Amino acid sequence: MGASPWKFESSSGHQTLLYEMYPNFKYHVFICQNQRPEGHPLGCCLSKGSDTILNYMKARVKELGLKNIRINKAGCLGACKHGPTVVVYPQGDWHTVQSVQEAEKIIQHQISNQSS
Ligand code: FES
Repeated sequence: MGASPWKFESSSGHQTLLYEMYPNFKYHVFICQNQRPEGHPLGCCLSKGSDTILNYMKARVKELGLKNIRINKAGCLGACKHGPTVVVYPQGDWHTVQSVQEAEKIIQHQISNQSS
């Protein structure tokens, strides 16, 4: 059966559930997958190939066995004109990623961060 949850109450009074098997990701990479109709003044990341970036990064992180990096789909991140938009936390590093080569640079940067 799954892990048993336990509760704690935060200083703001909210109850939070934690699990023994709560994933221990060090980095979260959010990749905008928002889609807007063609011709929309803000544009969107999906029309600029953000799905290719997402699929590439997911595959590479898995291939490299980087279990502490989580690649996540995101809705609009509010930087539409600069997309495809990628943000990496906890650093809060924002990127425009227009190719898988640029996506690879982000992954390699995260790897080098882990060893430092
Ligand atoms: S559509 Fe991607 S940041 Fe807004």
